[in-house]
Amino acid sequence: MEPVAPVAPPAASGSAARPASVEELEVGGEPTVGRAAMPVPLIGLLGALVYWGSMYIVEYGGEADARVHYPYTSFKEIQDLQPKGEEEIIKLKGMLVYGKICAACHQADGNGSASQNAPPLAGSEWVLAKDPSRIARIVLHGLSGPIAVKGKEWGAGQMLAWKDVLTDEDIASALSYVRNSWGNKAPIVPADLVKKVREETKDWSGYMSAEELMKVTLKE
Ligand code: HEC
Repeated sequence: MEPVAPVAPPAASGSAARPASVEELEVGGEPTVGRAAMPVPLIGLLGALVYWGSMYIVEYGGEADARVHYPYTSFKEIQDLQPKGEEEIIKLKGMLVYGKICAACHQADGNGSASQNAPPLAGSEWVLAKDPSRIARIVLHGLSGPIAVKGKEWGAGQMLAWKDVLTDEDIASALSYVRNSWGNKAPIVPADLVKKVREETKDWSGYMSAEELMKVTLKE
């Protein structure tokens, strides 16, 4: 019987990884609690993220964007341009009436037209009278005959009556616009005043004349 060579016990696999001692097991192998320095690239990454985030808010956060709102840079600026009150809205309505009707003769700049015999409204003492009772009569019934405006005599033309075309509100807003444009400054004309004048002059037929208008006493 051949002597059997003693068989070496199989080499333990991974013996190198096996802790050499209990100490090594405790120190190196177990999860430990402690602080570690934050890696520099991560700080950079967070910085980039914050920057991108702020730019995103600037771009999409709802502030006025130059590509949309040019030349305005903020909503406050745009807000400031909106009509601010009833007076502003009346003047805007008046601008429409003026543009559609009155500008044909008195021109967009309110300076009138010599070739159409239409006197200026800009700086006109008729327009600027504090009490608009006379100019309300002019627009309701039209005007004919000699009239002095800003030291110049007019009278070769006629202005048609608008009482059957325009409402009290239309006339009031047109006059309010005329009284507050091109450097003119006078109180807004209430629609009620035009209504009152329409009522007072309902039996009047034909054009108004400067002479007739001078009979209307103005309230100071
Ligand atoms: C068809 C042309 C014409 C149109 C449209 C017209 N006007 Fe006139 N307007 C005249 C003429 C012409 C006179 C001067 C009449 C005269 O010589 O007696 C006049 C005179 C006036 C006057 C008095 C004089 C002055 O210059 O202050 C006022 C105010 C006036 N118009 C306002 C208006 C308003 C407001 C409108 C629009 C609702 C209007 N007019 C539309 C031709 C026009």
